[in-house]
Amino acid sequence: MSTQTYQTLLKNGTAVLPSGIHKTDIAINDGKIEAIGNLPENCAHRVIDCENLHILPGVIDTQAHFREPGGEHKETLEAGTRAAIAGGVTTIFEMPNTNPLTTTPEAVADKMERAKKSAWCNYAFYLGGTAENAQNLPQWENLPGICGIKIFMGSSTGNLLSDKDEDIEAILSNGKRIVAVHAEDEEIMNHNKETILGKSNDVSMHCKWRSVESCLSATKRVLKIARKTGRKVHILHITTDIELEILKKNKDIASVEVLPNHLTLHAPDCYKELGTYAQQNPPIRELKHQNALWKAISDGTIDIIGSDHAPHTIEEKSKQYPQSPSGTPGVQTLVPIMLNHVNEGRLTLQRFVDLVCYGPHRIHQIATKGRIAVGFDADFTIVDMKAEREISNESQQSKSGWTPFNGKKVKGWPIMTIIMGKTVMSDDEIIGEPSGTPVKFRDNLSKNCYK
Ligand code: DOR
Repeated sequence: MSTQTYQTLLKNGTAVLPSGIHKTDIAINDGKIEAIGNLPENCAHRVIDCENLHILPGVIDTQAHFREPGGEHKETLEAGTRAAIAGGVTTIFEMPNTNPLTTTPEAVADKMERAKKSAWCNYAFYLGGTAENAQNLPQWENLPGICGIKIFMGSSTGNLLSDKDEDIEAILSNGKRIVAVHAEDEEIMNHNKETILGKSNDVSMHCKWRSVESCLSATKRVLKIARKTGRKVHILHITTDIELEILKKNKDIASVEVLPNHLTLHAPDCYKELGTYAQQNPPIRELKHQNALWKAISDGTIDIIGSDHAPHTIEEKSKQYPQSPSGTPGVQTLVPIMLNHVNEGRLTLQRFVDLVCYGPHRIHQIATKGRIAVGFDADFTIVDMKAEREISNESQQSKSGWTPFNGKKVKGWPIMTIIMGKTVMSDDEIIGEPSGTPVKFRDNLSKNCYK
């Protein structure tokens, strides 16, 4: 082929394809993957040399808090999505605990409008589920840009809370989209705060009063309601061995997410080293729980890795515990931290892609993202598995300006981020203008109900 049939050609890379990891070329036209195979250099106007690099489908981070509107001093859609592309993430799903809460179509439309002007990567938004809006969810959940419904069973940042079984049942009885659940039991935590934390200012108590039993109780309760209503649930940021034992037996109605922080840091060391900068909900726990999370990565129980990027300013995080807010930034470090785990042999590169591309595609019913396949969007995370770098506060694009991994040396780094065929990050440089677009979802959602 001598005519320039394609706009862009990714040449000589090693691609993670659904069929396995292969050295191959990928051709792009109008933001879509148009051909995969052995393609000559002169078939494209622009050739990107990917020799010695791995080409992954664009990484989808299904849990990020970008604080806009209402918390712009911590983060904005512009800075949060800039951090995403700096870290090799091409798509984000943003959480509803903003101010005002994202619990109405107007609030979603407002976020869509803001993102249209300022997002560097592709985006979609969770709609917060509450007792008040439950009846409206079937009409609202298919509005453009909505990736699912989110329920907080236990209080965290912001005041979105649905802690009563009847309210959760009302939400699960209405609609078909995936319901993502923050599973900590409010009543148990309130009791523990009095009896276990008391007046203590010791941050290492965070994983004691926000207890294993609190997570277990919430997960058990929501599974029971999921089974009763025939609605699938997605249990976010799992932290305990005992919940995983139960979730393994309920894979027909529940999918599961884990975070890089919980796979990488553990109690009590993280609290000694990082103090309140390790404080997040659900908490980072002891090594025995972390080992169970890794086992669940190996045996397939876990479906998704999300960052739970939850930035707070240094000033806020340096308040005395428990006045300090919970949450850590993470969208920019998700890929490097996990590639380092791949290099350390804790999971394969294919399994990583399964967790950040195929898993999100399957669970959220994304139309054309999450695979390198002809006809899919040309979103790519191009990585150098041999690059050795140090993560630093200075290189963080998030407004919060810090990372719990400051000073950590990693092997494996995102070298280039391509979104809809456009290079938006190359060698740690951000390129061009914000040009993210809303994610499209399949509209036939009957499979989200198991009945
Ligand atoms: O630690 C957390 N912080 N956990 C959450 O679920 C919410 C988040 C936040 O928004 O700050």
